[in-house]
Amino acid sequence: MIDVDIYRYNPETDREPHMQSFFVDDDFGKRMVLDVLEHLRESDPSLAYRRSCREGVCGSDGMNINGKNALACITPVTEAAGSGKLILRPLTGMAVIRDLVVDQNHFFEQYASIKPWLINDSGTVDKELHQSAADRAKLDGLYECIMCGCCTSGCPSWWWNPEKYLGPAVLLQAYRFIADSRDTASGERLGALSDHFSVYRCRDVGNCSWVCPKGLNPMGAISDIRRTLLKTSL
Ligand code: FES
Repeated sequence: MIDVDIYRYNPETDREPHMQSFFVDDDFGKRMVLDVLEHLRESDPSLAYRRSCREGVCGSDGMNINGKNALACITPVTEAAGSGKLILRPLTGMAVIRDLVVDQNHFFEQYASIKPWLINDSGTVDKELHQSAADRAKLDGLYECIMCGCCTSGCPSWWWNPEKYLGPAVLLQAYRFIADSRDTASGERLGALSDHFSVYRCRDVGNCSWVCPKGLNPMGAISDIRRTLLKTSL
């Protein structure tokens, strides 16, 4: 049997959070963490977590799995737990709503603040905006972000300054538009990031790039923003 410890907290009935132990058959070792949760919820429908696509695409089942933020649907049980127990906690740095469900409102408000859409004021909105293969390649490693929040949740700088520092996921998304040759608002976008906190509160800890379930490099994107800001200020 595999021992599974899960963070439980229901604000309507619990005075404080606690860990609850479950056991699943050894066969679950070959499956994904989300399969374990789905199985356990059959016997305990009160167990709360988010999930949707089950394919590592929607980003809704980010959680802390044996100390590392990850997506439950693409994390094999044996990879996370080894020969020990599986330990599931909510994403760090975000208020818990219930069990493994965290409040991501602030995270998505910060996302909205960077205007995550293409801005083009060239007057060609009714035509295709062509892009060279080289310019298109600049978006690789950026457009794949699914906003699961695993990186931002693992960032100590964001824990300390969530109101002023945008965090790695939002900054990677910001750079995705700054780097886009079709976008004509890069000056405005960079100007909005040039204060002491929005970008510069990054301390290069690197947890973001370590945990990203898509293998992206948010810390590299933040460095690219800082480099671009430096160039534009010279
Ligand atoms: Fe969609 Fe895991 S359920 S990313």
